[in-house]
Amino acid sequence: MKTIKASGIGKPIDRIEGRLKVTGMAKYATEFPVENKVYAQAVNSTIAKGEIVSIDTSEAEKAAGVLAVLTHKNAEKLKAFEEEMPELGTTTIAPVLQSNKVHYYGEYVGLVVAETFEQATYAAKLVKVKYKEETPDIHLDKSRAKAYKPTESSDFSRGDMDAGMAAADQTLEATYNTPIEHHHPMELHAVIASWNNGKVLAYTSQQMVDNSTIVISDTFQIPKKDVRVVAAFVGGGFGSKLNTDRHVILALMASKKLGKPVQLTVTRNQMFTNTGMRQHNEQNMRIGAKKDGTLTALSHETLSHTSTFQEYQEPCGNVSKMLYKVPNNLIKHRLIPLNFQTPCSMRAPGEATGSFALESAMDEMAWKLKMDPIDFRIKNDTQIDLSEERPFSSRLLIECLRIGAEKFGWKERKMEPRTNTNGNWLIGYGVSAASREAPYKKTSSKVIISLEEGKAIATIQMDATDIGTGSYTIIAQTASEYLGIPTEDVTVELGDSNYPVTPGSGGSWGAASYCNGARAACENAIAELKRKKNIPEGEEIALADLLKQNDLTKFEAEGTAEPSEEFEKYSVFSFGANFSEVWVDKDTGMSRIKRMVNVGSAGKILNPKTAYGQIIGGLTMGVGMALTEQTKIEPNFGNFITRSFADYHAPVNLDMANVEVIFLPEEDKIANKMGVKGIGELGITSVAASIANAIFNATGKRMRDLPITPEKLI
Ligand code: MOS
Repeated sequence: MKTIKASGIGKPIDRIEGRLKVTGMAKYATEFPVENKVYAQAVNSTIAKGEIVSIDTSEAEKAAGVLAVLTHKNAEKLKAFEEEMPELGTTTIAPVLQSNKVHYYGEYVGLVVAETFEQATYAAKLVKVKYKEETPDIHLDKSRAKAYKPTESSDFSRGDMDAGMAAADQTLEATYNTPIEHHHPMELHAVIASWNNGKVLAYTSQQMVDNSTIVISDTFQIPKKDVRVVAAFVGGGFGSKLNTDRHVILALMASKKLGKPVQLTVTRNQMFTNTGMRQHNEQNMRIGAKKDGTLTALSHETLSHTSTFQEYQEPCGNVSKMLYKVPNNLIKHRLIPLNFQTPCSMRAPGEATGSFALESAMDEMAWKLKMDPIDFRIKNDTQIDLSEERPFSSRLLIECLRIGAEKFGWKERKMEPRTNTNGNWLIGYGVSAASREAPYKKTSSKVIISLEEGKAIATIQMDATDIGTGSYTIIAQTASEYLGIPTEDVTVELGDSNYPVTPGSGGSWGAASYCNGARAACENAIAELKRKKNIPEGEEIALADLLKQNDLTKFEAEGTAEPSEEFEKYSVFSFGANFSEVWVDKDTGMSRIKRMVNVGSAGKILNPKTAYGQIIGGLTMGVGMALTEQTKIEPNFGNFITRSFADYHAPVNLDMANVEVIFLPEEDKIANKMGVKGIGELGITSVAASIANAIFNATGKRMRDLPITPEKLI
C-alpha cells in the first residue's frame, strides 16, 4: 500500500517544533494562559519519621493574599493506596495530606494558596508544625535484617550456581555500589489544575497523558472521561514524570476547594524529596569461567531500598540473565523499607545500574583470565535469550563491539595499567556492552487530511508526549512517508488526552509505538480513499489527486497499531557497545574523559539527528553517573544535603568527551512493521562501566563505588 514516495523517514531533519522552543512559543505546563489562576506552595516536613502533633496555620492564613491553607486536618479524604500498575512503573492513585504520619523528610504536610506566587511562598514559611519525632531508618547498612523479597519478585535462576562456580578455573566475587541519584529534568514538575463542577483540566508536565487521567480519576473517584490532561511540551522527565505525583493531586484539591485554577510548581529543592529518585543499589556479583573464557556461572544479587509505605524495585539483575551464554545463573532482588520517598524509574531502570555491575565484573574477569575484554564478551555471545528460551529478534552485539573497536582504535590499548602515560596523566581505554529491551505498545492516532489550494496537507493527533526526544519530528516524518507528502506539510498535535490513546513516553517504547500508530492511521486513510473509488491498493496516486477523485476537501481516519503474535515469540532488545578513553591525573585523582565511541544497533533509525541527540544525552547522564552524581544523606536526620545544582553536579560541557555515535544499519521487522526499536535508554546503559574499566586500565585501581570522585583515586 503506497502512494507517491516522499521518503520522510531516515532523514536528519531539524526538529519541526525547534523554532517554537527557541522562540519561547512552545507552551510548557505553567505557560498556558489560564484566567483567574491562583498560586500554591507546598509545605514540607522537617523530620523523617514520626507524627504531626499540632499544626498552626493561623499566621499563614492572615498573611497577605492567602486564600486557603490545606493540611491533613481539613483536606478531603482520598482513596487509599490500592493496586499498582507495575507495567508502567506507576501507581493508580496518589493520596496526600491523609494523616498526621510522616514517612520521610520533606513529605508534603501542607499547601498554601495565595493570589501570587510570592505570597504563597512567603506564607508557606509561616505554617508552624510540631512533631513527635522517631528515629528514622535511613541506613541500608544498618537495616540489613529487614531485607525482604518484593511481592512482585523478579528473582530468576537456571542451572546450578554452586556447581557452575565449582566447575570454573577462575572465579570472581565483587560488590558494586551506586548511590541515590536524582533525575532533574530542566522543566520543573509543575501543574495548573482546574476543578470545574466535577470536571478536571490539568496542564501538567507528564510523560504519559492517558496514565495521568487514570491516576486523577482513581484518586478522586470521578469518571475518566471527565479528566482532561494536557502536556503539549515536556522539558525532560527521565522517568520522574511517569508518575502523576502528589503535587498534581494537591493542586486539584485546592482548586476543588476554591473554585479557581491553581498553579503549583515543585521547586528544584523540593524535587529532591518529592518527585522520585533512583535508590542506592548494592550489587553483589559472582562469576565463574573456564581458562578459555567460557562462562560457567553468573550471579547478580541486588539489595536496595523502598519507602515504608510502597514498593518499588529496580530490576538491576535483569541484564545478567540475558546478555551472555552462561548455563548457571542466579538473579535476586531484595528491598529494605527506609524512611525516604518511594524511588521510581530513572533512565534505563535496571540496565543503567545493573550493567555497571555486570560490565565491570566482566572486565575484572577478563583481566583475571588475561583475555582481551572484547574477545571475552564475544566468546560468550548468545543469539538465544536464555532467560526466556526464545531467540532475539535481532542481536548485533558482536558487530557493535568489532566496529566500535575499529573506530576507536582499540588495538592501541595497553593491557597493563599505568603503561600508557602522558606527563602526569595516566591513560586508560575501557569497553562495555549494552542491552536494553525495546518494547512496543498499543498506540492509536488520528489523521486529518485536507486540500489547501490544490495541495494535500495533514495533521496527526495522538496523546503522545515529546519529552525532548523528538516525537513531534519523527511522527511527522512517518506521516510524510505513508501519505506521500512532504514533511513540511504535516502538522503534529500531541499531549492532549482528547486525542487517541498512546502509552506515552517511557521505557524506550515511544518511537516504535508512536510511529507505528501514525503509520496505521495514514495507511487506513489511503486504503479507505482508494476503496471508495475502486483504485487498486498497489496503484501509485498522489494524495491530492486521491482527495480530488473522491470530491473531498477533508478526510479523517484513525488507526491503531499493536504488537503482532510474532513479537511475543522473540526477545526484542536494542544492543550497543561503548568505548571510552579516560585520563587520570596521578597526583590529584581528577578524571577527564577524552573521547567516546558509542555503537548502537537499534533497528531502523527514523531521524539520525534526533537519534544522535538521544544517545549523547544518555552518554552524558552516564558520565554523570560514573563521575559526579550523588545525592548525599544527612546521617542523623535523613535529609538530603545535596539540594541544588551546586551540590548535585550533573555533567556540563567541560565534563563531556568528544563523542562519536554510530548506528549499525538495521531493520527489525519482527519488532514491528517499521523495523524501529527504542534508543532513549540505550545511551546511558553501561557507560559507567566503560569509564570505570578505562580508569582501571589507566590506574590499576578498581572503582566499584560510584561516583568515581578524585579522592577515591589518590
Ligand atoms: Mo523512562 S525511566 O521509562 O522515562
